[in-house]
Amino acid sequence: MSLALSEIISPPPAFPILLLLFLLAQPHLSLQTSEVDKNSLWKSHLVQIDIEGDVLPPLLTTAENWHQNVLDYGTTHNLDPSTMRDLRDAVITRLPAAALDGTGSVGRTRTDLIKSLSSWISHSEGRKINYLEIGCAGGDNFVPISEEDFVETAYCVDPDPKSESTHKMMSEEFFRINEKTWDVVFVDGLHQWSTALNDIDSALLSLSPSGVVIVHDSNPRTSAAASPDVPDWGSKHQHQMAWNGDVFKAVISLGSRRDVDVATGHFDEGCAVVMNRPRSIERLLVPSRGAAETLTFDEFEENRKAFLNLMEWDSLMRWIDPTGTLGEHIQNIIKI
Ligand SMILES: C[S@@+](CC[C@H](N)C(=O)[O-])C[C@H]1O[C@@H](n2cnc3c(N)ncnc32)[C@H](O)[C@@H]1O
Repeated sequence: MSLALSEIISPPPAFPILLLLFLLAQPHLSLQTSEVDKNSLWKSHLVQIDIEGDVLPPLLTTAENWHQNVLDYGTTHNLDPSTMRDLRDAVITRLPAAALDGTGSVGRTRTDLIKSLSSWISHSEGRKINYLEIGCAGGDNFVPISEEDFVETAYCVDPDPKSESTHKMMSEEFFRINEKTWDVVFVDGLHQWSTALNDIDSALLSLSPSGVVIVHDSNPRTSAAASPDVPDWGSKHQHQMAWNGDVFKAVISLGSRRDVDVATGHFDEGCAVVMNRPRSIERLLVPSRGAAETLTFDEFEENRKAFLNLMEWDSLMRWIDPTGTLGEHIQNIIKI
């Protein structure tokens, strides 16, 4: 008589239940789901990277090891430091921010953040909210937010006649005439530090007591993306590149203020959250307003995390609301 292997090592009846309890107790299992999402996101972008020839694809086998692979490639091919930097930048600029983020933030977007905070404020205050967007272009973010049930009034300010804006003017002009109080202001207009800083300052002055300002593009990945010069949008190459400008300098300079609290979400090109409340952590390293203006990209790169108070999604939610009600509320708001 022969026995199948499964019969020889057949486990006692309680085994499946114990195994299930054991698996549920493993904290890394939730990360594994995110890893799967991240890797599928990564692979979908390999197709685009393929157009660069045969150098990049082998380097990018998984989201986890891309950086080490690029470094190893540089070492084995004796690349000088500046060629190494070009190679690294070439990889970074062809990837979605989410693919490079930590596991907690995979797939998060500015729209998720704006939607989560707007819905939470509406829920906490027991009323609909007023939403203002500075710079809305084709309305990719503005239109879905303005259609949400929890939004009372939604304005978008953008001088471009082709944009989806409700107010065709520059932000500076709008804030001069604005008399409304806003619960959520999304700053995404001209990506130059002084305009961004003026927009943030004006937005903070027009906030309701529980209001927040969200600033897009505060975490540029390359020095080219962080250039203060407005790109030539007509050029073919430029259309493939992100332009974050030097908005990061505006966000960094806020870190030296004691009367506002600021942190940057590590997703979707960097989404900074700014609130009218006392600074929650000591920011000894952060440059003053004047020093932030002259910051070089290399100085920024070396201190990125500290200067931006950079956080993954879950930490950002806890920083915004340490009581945890935001975290509970948004479980039903966003999918991922
Ligand atoms: C990056 S796009 C906005 C994208 C949009 N917020 C989104 O999430 O899809 C930047 C927009 O800012 C507008 N803009 C440029 N300078 C501005 C200013 N001074 N005031 C308001 N909008 C401005 C541009 O016309 C452009 O449409």
